[in-house]
Amino acid sequence: MESASKTVVRKENPNNSKKIDLSVPMSETYRKQGKDLFARAYDLANAIDNQKDYEIWLYFKSTLKTPGATTKGHDIYGNVFEGPNFATQDYLGLSTNMETREIAAKVTKEFGIHSGGAALAFGTHPYYLDFQREISEFWGVKSSIIYSAGWMAGYGIVKGMIRPWDHIIIDRLAHNCLSEGARAATQNIYVTEHLNVKEMVEVMKKIREEDNENGILIVTESLFSMDSDTPDLVYLQKESKKYDAFLLIDMAHDLGAIGEKGLGALETQNFSDYSNVILMGSGSKTLSTNIGFVGCNDERVIEYLRYFSPPYMFSNVVAPPQCAAALNNLRILRSDKGVQLRKQVMDNAVYLRTKLQAKGYEVLGIPSPIVILILGDEVFCRIVVRLMLDNNVIVNGIEFPIVAKGKARLRLQLQATHTREHLNTFLEKLESCSAKALTLMDDVESFINYRKSAPKL
Ligand SMILES: Cc1ncc(COP(=O)(O)O)c(C=O)c1O
Repeated sequence: MESASKTVVRKENPNNSKKIDLSVPMSETYRKQGKDLFARAYDLANAIDNQKDYEIWLYFKSTLKTPGATTKGHDIYGNVFEGPNFATQDYLGLSTNMETREIAAKVTKEFGIHSGGAALAFGTHPYYLDFQREISEFWGVKSSIIYSAGWMAGYGIVKGMIRPWDHIIIDRLAHNCLSEGARAATQNIYVTEHLNVKEMVEVMKKIREEDNENGILIVTESLFSMDSDTPDLVYLQKESKKYDAFLLIDMAHDLGAIGEKGLGALETQNFSDYSNVILMGSGSKTLSTNIGFVGCNDERVIEYLRYFSPPYMFSNVVAPPQCAAALNNLRILRSDKGVQLRKQVMDNAVYLRTKLQAKGYEVLGIPSPIVILILGDEVFCRIVVRLMLDNNVIVNGIEFPIVAKGKARLRLQLQATHTREHLNTFLEKLESCSAKALTLMDDVESFINYRKSAPKL
């Protein structure tokens, strides 16, 4: 079966007076200059207005129910949808776990909702201290530091460790929290091709030829969420040691979700030497609540970060009910139930990937709870998402500048609680919605008429 046969490239259509125009991407409106700070913001609104006319500006959808394997929500135009949900990050499906929700409610009642301070200033509480100990045990590292969100952890670790004279080598697709941390910390940043660990090693070598005094931090992820792929971490760690470099691995997407024990790519790659490694994770994908954490086998590094990592030092500790929920979900994912949930979500991923590939779709990467389905053209992708929502299948589209131009895609985030019926409904609706989207994308008139008939809130 041809792999890329179902991706779409837009053709020029001279008969259309008003085309759906995505020619001004948001990123271009970002660098506007001028002394009027308010006026500089208006270009963004103009850039997206055209898309709002067609109701294909599909960000900021809201949930109306718990975002489980099925849910109910609405878009910014008031269109309501309810059905199988592939747009929520909750790989083990623990956001619907009643035990955890009851624990959060009990903690709210008995302990309260406020941490009341940064960690250094009397903000920590029993759930925080237990989480801190248990996440270290789970990772198998000596010490950890807890943040209120994964973004804060990623930014905080880079900014906390790196000084302007140090060097950072970073994968081109590393998450924004890491690249922002890098930019805030030093100007010596070397961006390497995605997953190209050999290039990272070459850069390390070159840096060391010229600078044998300062630090080098390699920054990558153990599961990239836009492509569902993983670098060779064992190779990178071994090589980085040769050049006295250190390795930061963002495990936001695979920690807890992949591997028999849930240790993600560290487990699937038999990663064993932590001597120059710093690990980072986020609760927002697998622990089903917001919390961030960084672990290291050298407890002195974590102690240092407690003073020099600004999002830790200068921000209130995560609130007790949220921390208690994360803690209970951590205990679940470490239990036999966790093993079962990881198996279920991986079975779902393999099933969906196999079915999509058999139908001729291009599916990226390796089997993981994230299934990346390439659709190609940006307008096509948006109309497919629009139609899927209209047909009560909840999905997210991803496009340039987050991914390459012409490589728009659906990012399907699977949950252990998805059933075969949910996956089959997705497959069935994808076929009919893609076929309809093909006819609508070059015929703006009929698309407008189609939207006019959509029922509203
Ligand atoms: C790789 C990666 N790192 C960090 C984060 C930030 O995590 P959080 O949503 O917990 O702030 C994300 C979230 O999308 C992510 O994908």
